[in-house]
Amino acid sequence: MRTKIVAGNWKMNNDLAESNTLIQNLVSQIKDETLENTRVIVAPTFVNLKSVVDVAKGSSVEVAAQNMHQADNGAYTGEISASMLKGIDINIVILGHSERRAYFGEGDALLAEKTDAALKNNLEVIFCFGEELEDRKSENHFNVVESQLKNGIFHLEASAWKNIILAYEPVWAIGTGETASPEQAQEMHAFIRNLVSDKYGKELADSVSILYGGSVKPANAQEIFSKPDVDGGLIGGAALNASDFMAIIKAI
Ligand code: PGA
Repeated sequence: MRTKIVAGNWKMNNDLAESNTLIQNLVSQIKDETLENTRVIVAPTFVNLKSVVDVAKGSSVEVAAQNMHQADNGAYTGEISASMLKGIDINIVILGHSERRAYFGEGDALLAEKTDAALKNNLEVIFCFGEELEDRKSENHFNVVESQLKNGIFHLEASAWKNIILAYEPVWAIGTGETASPEQAQEMHAFIRNLVSDKYGKELADSVSILYGGSVKPANAQEIFSKPDVDGGLIGGAALNASDFMAIIKAI
């Protein structure tokens, strides 16, 4: 059975005190839940990672970074490496988020390098991709997603995939309040699983968790998560509020 995952991407929100309050709330609410075959992950901003890790320790909430640099170390002012993340007990990193792609110029080749560096350092990768509104309007969305996967992550050996989580995030649905319909999400997730199957075989494809991201809220989570190829969500805005995030976790 595939693992279900609810991951909260806090983006550039929450100062130290707010981060601590949010993680404390989540940890105390989650201990009363039975999380069957489900992982819960939060991704605070870099400066608050260590503190959130310390609060989450011993709970069933895992902590991820939102990004990392591809080099091990060196003269890269302002950057953070995989080994630095490992050094504070971070075992998961989000790569390729559309905001990194759009505002920081991260393309497929760089993301392939970052993925390699993360895996080399035993980090698990939540690899994000998804089409823009124009691509969907021009019915080019399948091609865009296929090329993001082929150029960003299909160079990996099959054995590396045990540390890969995919996150399909249509850019037009991120932070816009607009959500892909459950049918649109299912259609794309099935397409993605087929691509993975064509390249790596059905068994591997059936084992990969594919998350949906883009305006998931308590009101729509259950319907989206009920689709057979949707294995959870990457949540932005609604992950900043403990009760909304808990409602989404319960929906799964
Ligand atoms: P959103 O963000 O839930 O606020 O749309 C999703 C994401 O960027 O991962």
